[in-house]
Amino acid sequence: MWQLKPLLLLLGVLLGALACTVAGDGGMPLVIPITKHMDTLLYSVSAPVAENDQITNHLVLDLSGPIIWSTCPDGYVALGCTSPACIQANRFHPPNCQQTGYGKPDADNPHRCKCTAHPYNPVAGDRASDDMTEFTTSVNATDGKNPLYTVSFVVSTSCAPESLLTGLQWDSVGVVGLASSALALPAQIADTQKVPNKFALCLPSGYSDGVAIFGGGPLFLLPPGSPDVVATLAGDTPLRKHGKSTGYYITADKGIAVNQIQVPLDGYGAAPLLIALSSTTPYTALRSDVYRAFITAFDQATSEMARIKPEMPPFELCYNSTQLGSTRVGYAVPQIDLMLEGGKNWTLFGGNTMVQVYDQTACLAFVQMREENKQYGYGGSPKEAPAVVIGGFQMENNLLVFDVENQRLGFSSLLFGRQTTCSNFNFTMPA
Ligand SMILES: *[C@@H]1O[C@H](CO)[C@@H](O)[C@H](O)[C@H]1NC(C)=O
Ligand SMILES: *[C@@H]1O[C@H](CO)[C@@H](O)[C@H](O)[C@H]1NC(C)=O
Ligand SMILES: *[C@@H]1O[C@H](CO)[C@@H](O)[C@H](O)[C@H]1NC(C)=O
Ligand SMILES: *[C@@H]1O[C@H](CO)[C@@H](O)[C@H](O)[C@H]1NC(C)=O
Repeated sequence: MWQLKPLLLLLGVLLGALACTVAGDGGMPLVIPITKHMDTLLYSVSAPVAENDQITNHLVLDLSGPIIWSTCPDGYVALGCTSPACIQANRFHPPNCQQTGYGKPDADNPHRCKCTAHPYNPVAGDRASDDMTEFTTSVNATDGKNPLYTVSFVVSTSCAPESLLTGLQWDSVGVVGLASSALALPAQIADTQKVPNKFALCLPSGYSDGVAIFGGGPLFLLPPGSPDVVATLAGDTPLRKHGKSTGYYITADKGIAVNQIQVPLDGYGAAPLLIALSSTTPYTALRSDVYRAFITAFDQATSEMARIKPEMPPFELCYNSTQLGSTRVGYAVPQIDLMLEGGKNWTLFGGNTMVQVYDQTACLAFVQMREENKQYGYGGSPKEAPAVVIGGFQMENNLLVFDVENQRLGFSSLLFGRQTTCSNFNFTMPA
């Protein structure tokens, strides 16, 4: 017996050292369920809102959003103008917002400066100015397989007037920005949890929850025994910046292929194509010049397939879906390749390209970009708009890994090919 004690002690020291190493490198990633709202086609997370965690409300996800904002409860405390969060908040202004300065005097205490932020609604294209505040939120830690335990931490957010909620789903109280700025959720989690500024996003297509993992991975989806999706991605490509936008961009340096044939593009539409990723755009939008060439190519590649006329705006090419073949990755239609910088293709199959509009009608789920694209603040010159804005429908049931630290985007391709979906995370906490 006497020998056991020093051994246990030694083991304790070793385990302690191990635990220290793990804690030194960082904490556990956090897992958050994602809901799709079927009326607005927006994706949201539920969040206990400031000082009232009895009420669960929704916050809409915005990949391009630099901050987190919501309507604030009475009696919230505004952050001061010299707080680090205030300085960060004022590095980002919504498109066309001329506002400068950090804040204004507090009405209750004229000697105190209240910090002002500039929340932006990506759906309506509206902006506002309101106080910065902070509140405690709770999220589950994960080993990539299940939620394990709840951690609480303070997040810096902006308040917003009720009117800024226009266009969001009815039960939304704000927006969670996922962009690469210091006040977006990924950076705030990285900061407080000591995990990498890297997140895995798996958008659901239906009523069951999808999943996001902040801190990178791993991520295991049912059925049990499937490999870590983060470690078995199909490819990755550099993330790029575009002007003053805080959103994520990638480049298709060889353009787009339909049915493995490159779509001919010329003028300013020629490759390399700038591609934005937008969680608040329901269907991928193509700049007019690219759209026309792309539709022509898809039309030709599907000339044998039974059409439904008249077309159903905003979609132009619709098919009798009872006559389309089915595969594991959706309807048997020509594949679409985004030929990305770095040499890998992001390949889109029927499951991400054809939307079921009616019982017997499926349409090519790509739309023409509006000339005045207020959602992205490009407005004027079409040359400034990205050639492609990848929308939610094309991202669903794909795992996307935004490695903000290393500025790379990893992608899995359609998970149906691996016999799983984004709604297959096991949200049951082990006993
Ligand atoms: C943590 O996970 C459990 C099990 O899914 C869930 O009931 C709980 O609401 C989660 N907690 C938070 C803070 O999300
Ligand atoms: C990418 O797609 C193009 C067009 O379909 C094809 O020619 C090329 O071989 C693909 N590249 C890779 C690396 O799969
Ligand atoms: C689709 O094709 C089937 C079989 O040919 C036909 O019965 C049906 O009426 C068509 N549907 C539409 C909407 O045209
Ligand atoms: C989900 O996780 C729980 C807790 O570890 C486990 O008991 C259950 O069997 C898992 N479900 C499936 C379908 O694997």
